[in-house]
Amino acid sequence: MAEPILRVSPDAAALAEAAASRFLLEATAAVEERGRFLVCLSGGATPLGLYRVLAASPYRDAVPWASVEVFWGDERLVPKDDPENSYSQARDALLDPVAVPVANIHRVRSTMSPSAAVADYTARLRAAARATRSAAGWPRFDLVLLGLGRDGHTASLFPGSPVEQTAPVVAVMADYDGRPANRVTLTPPVFDDARRVWFLVTGEGKAEAVASTLQGPDDPARWPAQRIRPLGGELSWWLDPGAARLLS
Ligand code: 6PG
Repeated sequence: MAEPILRVSPDAAALAEAAASRFLLEATAAVEERGRFLVCLSGGATPLGLYRVLAASPYRDAVPWASVEVFWGDERLVPKDDPENSYSQARDALLDPVAVPVANIHRVRSTMSPSAAVADYTARLRAAARATRSAAGWPRFDLVLLGLGRDGHTASLFPGSPVEQTAPVVAVMADYDGRPANRVTLTPPVFDDARRVWFLVTGEGKAEAVASTLQGPDDPARWPAQRIRPLGGELSWWLDPGAARLLS
């Protein structure tokens, strides 16, 4: 596995601009090479800054949005118009403003039961795998965006959750920040297959989780983001000074 690339920006706004610039490069290259750009979005507040920069000039007009396919790394099982729903957050901040074709948006059916939502999303991943000639039961994402909770969770992989997960999609119950408890999440085998994985993390409140994940003892049960090691892909941590504060 390649060493994580640390990209520390002066502040969250500069981080969003730098990430948007790289997003444009990667999307353009992927579409030129393979005709599409497969991106797996994250929920939470941190990526909103990036989504908003991408939804504005020049990225709104420069990114080949008609060839961008969108999935989510996890989703909260609340109605799609619930403000806590990660799909609707990205739809409002980015997907609607840049007019990503509806057929390219592969959201979790969040009003299904956990087991039905897992089965449905697993089938969607398998269909995308077939369409992109991926031998796995999921597509090889060109870009996976992930956040990090203060407790060290990423996507909906929480401390204490099973480390070894072979199924691409699992249902979990979580208690974090008053956010919805019932979720489905992709698992490390899917994330590790990606061409690039970007963690976007800002704020002093994340400093301990960042340092423990990146420089602490190997303890993937306690620090789930340690489970994500893209085998043949790039792993980047986009940080502001607050989140990077405890890194040596
Ligand atoms: C979610 C995300 C979750 C998020 C972290 C950090 O659905 O909430 O998948 O893993 O990235 O909780 O959230 P913030 O960016 O809001 O701090």
